[in-house]
Amino acid sequence: NCLATKAISTIRPAFTRGIHATTTSTAKVAVLGAAGGIGQPLSLLCKLSPEVDELSCYDIVGTPGVAADLSHIPSKSSTLGRLPSPVKWPMGPNEGLKETLEGADVVVIPAGVPRKPGMTRDDLFNTNASIVKTLVEGCAQFCPDAMIAVISNPVNSTVPIAAEVLKKAGVYNPKKLAGVTTLDVCRANTFVANSQGWDPKDVDVTVIGGHAGITILPLFSRVNGAKFTDEELEALTVRTQFGGDEVVAAKAGAGSATLSMAYAGFVFAENVLKALRGEEVTQCAFVESSLTEAPYFASPVKFGKNGVEEILPLGELSAYEKQWLDKMMPELKKQIQKGIDFVNK
Ligand code: NAI
Repeated sequence: NCLATKAISTIRPAFTRGIHATTTSTAKVAVLGAAGGIGQPLSLLCKLSPEVDELSCYDIVGTPGVAADLSHIPSKSSTLGRLPSPVKWPMGPNEGLKETLEGADVVVIPAGVPRKPGMTRDDLFNTNASIVKTLVEGCAQFCPDAMIAVISNPVNSTVPIAAEVLKKAGVYNPKKLAGVTTLDVCRANTFVANSQGWDPKDVDVTVIGGHAGITILPLFSRVNGAKFTDEELEALTVRTQFGGDEVVAAKAGAGSATLSMAYAGFVFAENVLKALRGEEVTQCAFVESSLTEAPYFASPVKFGKNGVEEILPLGELSAYEKQWLDKMMPELKKQIQKGIDFVNK
């Protein structure tokens, strides 16, 4: 079945490649860091999705095995697993990355090291900044029109890094770059539903700001029908901001959120695919933004055929939320600038 799918996709005329071309055309998703804790379950979810026709898994280790394993699942997408070109790379062109990225509509990047107990996301900067830079250079070269979804932390810095790399290559399109903050929304939905005795599927909390500690701001004042005391509101807000730390502590040195992040990354990517096909989708994302004084900001964003179609106005914040927004701003701006400087230094 898989071979048949692959054969069909190889004989398709070039102009039907890419999901913008026709209503029946194919959608290709590339996962960079696909052998990791997030990458594997994220690739599994993509393999199961009816929205995905081609799945390319890339990592510096393990992707031939991941792809072979996934390819036995009887779903429609073809599966490719590539490593960096063993002979030429890093001295010559990276054919493995090229094959992974060519024709991709959405590139999801969970490559990089995760946190250990006691670490902030910013502590990952030194390692992950270079990884994201290298991979986005590949995107600029091999799939400049793809939507790039950055999961690698610190997202507040890795998204500006990606933007600067794309600018240098002359292919930056702010509609096609986003940091994935969906896990913050998932956590906020779960925590508020638990507190109110609701089904989490009925809740959709708006989470704005960035993706690290106090830069994460859930707008619980907008959750219809929710009732909390001031103490409960504070506890829910702080738990959403530092929810990642609960997982890091519980994993006790074995990494950070992987399964919930794979779910969140998949929700984000699948929504983007639906939007590229013409459905209108609104979801929170960390994008270039003029809503606040921070040049990148997470907020509800309308996605459509061209990627980011519209950044929705923030609306009125409660006095409590306004305090947090003021408090986060210097931190968020600093982390963004750190990313910008990394590429331009
Ligand atoms: P992991 O260590 O299990 O997997 C990372 C994978 O990246 C590994 O397989 C590794 O070989 C690969 N990798 C490293 N350098 C690479 C390169 N140059 N090219 C391609 N692949 C490369 O880590 P995990 O748990 O999957 O986390 C990945 C990242 O996601 C971390 O930076 C983590 O902080 C971040 N994260 C982001 C979240 C968010 O909400 N945005 C939530 C949780 C984690």
